Amino acid sequence: MGTLAVEIRPLIEDELGIVERLLNFDWGNPQKHEKRLEMQERDELVYLIAWVEGQAVGHAVLEWAGKVHAALAYKIMNCPNIDDLFVHPEHWSKGVGSQLLDRAQNMVVRRGYRCVGIGVAVDNHRARTLYNRLGYSEVGVGEYVDRWQYTEKDGRQVWHQESCNYLVKSL
Ligand SMILES: CC(C)(COP(=O)(O)OP(=O)(O)OC[C@H]1O[C@@H](n2cnc3c(N)ncnc32)[C@H](O)[C@@H]1OP(=O)(O)O)[C@@H](O)C(=O)NCCC(=O)NCCS
Repeated sequence: MGTLAVEIRPLIEDELGIVERLLNFDWGNPQKHEKRLEMQERDELVYLIAWVEGQAVGHAVLEWAGKVHAALAYKIMNCPNIDDLFVHPEHWSKGVGSQLLDRAQNMVVRRGYRCVGIGVAVDNHRARTLYNRLGYSEVGVGEYVDRWQYTEKDGRQVWHQESCNYLVKSL
């Protein structure tokens, strides 16, 4: 596999349209990119986009406040969270996911944190293998249930839940 020329940078308003068009792979929640851009403007997160030849191919959300979940509260502190790491399937196994993680980790260090975390569904073996290879390990709370709300294509608000493990990396 050759190394792909990937550029990773925070989303800017001018690029919102292309990101909405090309990275529309989740459960029909087209507003998520715009919401993240607004949160980025309030400095709550950084919305990293991976670009290959002018095309948006992946994203990761770096949340400064860390993961908010009762099961994790007593185990992790001062540990920003990486959410919704995603790479377009056409570009899997080319190092894009690793580079998104690497960029997020560098930003975390630059802000003075010593730790970054990521939740992974218990059945997402490919992602877990990648995180383990990059030095993430289970924080020690076992399985927890993550719940979140999203908007269906028809506008309905729907709850989704998943059994996850939380992994952290010391930086
Ligand atoms: C998980 C995910 C983000 C990984 O993205 P990716 O771009 O494929 O990740 P990478 O290419 O950096 O690393 C994955 C693989 O490439 C290999 N790899 C990475 N860079 C490489 C390089 N330069 N040369 C050779 N192999 C490389 C890794 O060893 C790993 O091996 P595998 O394909 O045999 O499993 C992607 O599969 C995805 O979007 N999945 C769906 C959403 C998801 O599950 N997100 C995670 C939520 S916790």
